[in-house]
Amino acid sequence: MKNYINLLTDIQNNILYLTINREEKLNALNKDTLAEIHDCLIAVLNNDLIKGIIITGKGEKAFVAGADIKEFSDFNEEQGKNLAKEGQTKVFDLIANCKKPVIAAINGFALGGGLELAMACHIRIASQNAKLGLPEVSLGLIPGYGGTQRLTELVGKGKAFEMILTADMVSAEEAAKIGLINHTVVSTDLLPQATAMMEKILSRSPEAIAAALKAINAFNHSQSGYDAEIQAFGNCFSSQNFKEGVTAFLEKRKPKFY
Ligand code: COA
Repeated sequence: MKNYINLLTDIQNNILYLTINREEKLNALNKDTLAEIHDCLIAVLNNDLIKGIIITGKGEKAFVAGADIKEFSDFNEEQGKNLAKEGQTKVFDLIANCKKPVIAAINGFALGGGLELAMACHIRIASQNAKLGLPEVSLGLIPGYGGTQRLTELVGKGKAFEMILTADMVSAEEAAKIGLINHTVVSTDLLPQATAMMEKILSRSPEAIAAALKAINAFNHSQSGYDAEIQAFGNCFSSQNFKEGVTAFLEKRKPKFY
């Protein structure tokens, strides 16, 4: 596997450990990181030695604290739509539709694009200190990497409305209760537990695993929901409140919405 700037990769016993490596920015997903994840996923699909992927974040504080807000702060509607569309196609859908199993090992904050990354994975295990949420409305945005669809699928409409509209984070314990994550563990057990689960999966028939992934993904899948999200996400970029939301974040103050 080649060397990346924003990712660490380590292959052990047919498992690729993929670590998002921008600890000083809480592993926020900038353009370069997303491009590297895409490149890495394509390499995984063509590498028979890799049979499963475990995705985690560098450090103890964050899995991924979202898309890189600074990078899209001056985007217009068209650029906003492209950001969501390209991200969904090249990274998030690629993970969700991957024929090899992908587990998210959530080691801290999983916010916005970070939670969307975790939700694109097939299984989620989180350490007890993890906090999860889709806080985009506090920036004048909505989730754009499939979050409105995948959260609703996992926790149902009622809880999805609550989480997305309030922008509140939930604890790992609460996330397990509502079905957003599969298990919560003490932080030192996170990678061992994710590894144990992956090893169990990899002990089964690879063809059957690939077939099960495909069939489960076909459950109630509606592309129109994802397309509606891309449109609505893009539209937010023309609002005055989007400018206020991202400016407030960058200036480290609370936004004043009109
Ligand atoms: N995009 C860009 N930079 C981010 C980021 C993001 N999504 N999340 C965190 N960072 C950066 C901060 O700007 C800061 O950089 P600086 O040291 O150059 O100022 C650094 O990461 C550390 O974050 P900071 O906010 O100082 O840590 P904190 O402990 O005070 O707060 C969070 C942690 C997760 C609550 C806070 O970083 C946060 O709210 N992040 C944004 C979450 C979000 O809205 N995500 C959705 C994006 S669509």
